[in-house]
Amino acid sequence: MAILESTNLSKSFGSLRAVINLSFGVKEKEILAIVGPNGSGKTTLFNVISKVLRPNQGTVVFDGHRIDKLPPHRITHLGLARTFQVPSFFKSMTVEEQVLLAAHFGGKNSHDATTTVSDSLGFVGLADKAKSPTDLLDIYGKKRLMIASALAVKPKLVMLDEPLAGLNNQEVAEELGMITKIREQGITVMIIEHNIRAIFAWADRAIVMHRGEKIAEGSPPEVSKDVQVIKVYLGEGYF
Ligand SMILES: Nc1ncnc2c1ncn2[C@@H]1O[C@H](COP(=O)(O)OP(=O)(O)OP(=O)(O)O)[C@@H](O)[C@H]1O
Ligand SMILES: [Mg+2]
Repeated sequence: MAILESTNLSKSFGSLRAVINLSFGVKEKEILAIVGPNGSGKTTLFNVISKVLRPNQGTVVFDGHRIDKLPPHRITHLGLARTFQVPSFFKSMTVEEQVLLAAHFGGKNSHDATTTVSDSLGFVGLADKAKSPTDLLDIYGKKRLMIASALAVKPKLVMLDEPLAGLNNQEVAEELGMITKIREQGITVMIIEHNIRAIFAWADRAIVMHRGEKIAEGSPPEVSKDVQVIKVYLGEGYF
């Protein structure tokens, strides 16, 4: 069953068509990889689904609700959370204050929020950094803080934008372990990633974008053999 369904979703910036008539579904509890060359519209897709940007056209249904006309906080309340490609936090806040802010944005009341914050920080391994200012975290810490903030809204679906970028091999392995545990909790995961080898080992399905359009969709082995995907993105001999 689809937990998220996008139909003819489009977003332009002036004459630049960043996302073009994109239709796809996300199955409940799957890990779906969104891949494609730089500038192919992946982040813009997340931005129009989460309503950081308003789509020019198209509909998005999440968990039975039309969300393409809703403001971002209402979408979050319904259980859709995301992380950003470039981590950015309130520098004056501590790690736990940042996650608390997310929990409140997700509609949790104060009592629930405190438990949720410590659970989320424990889950990503940042419990000992709870009182640190956010800007003292290294890149891996910042990536985990974004995940903790996303989990603090108790999501049904999380959209992760390049969660592995900038991490070393050991951190990549740990982060992938975290992502599989998120899915084991019954949360659906959409991941934008350029680390194809890593993400294709874990994703159930992949959608490949090129110049705003979906050019392939299927299991990782299927899309890696796709002639157009090899031509515009992976190159010969990637796998
Ligand atoms: N806010 C914006 N204003 C104008 N143009 C934008 C904006 N956001 C994205 N674009 C343009 O839209 C296109 C798609 O960008 P997007 O960031 O969605 O690509 P991407 O697939 O996420 O790329 P990357 O893999 O490099 O992160 C690019 O040409 C980009 O320059
Ligand atoms: Mg991007």
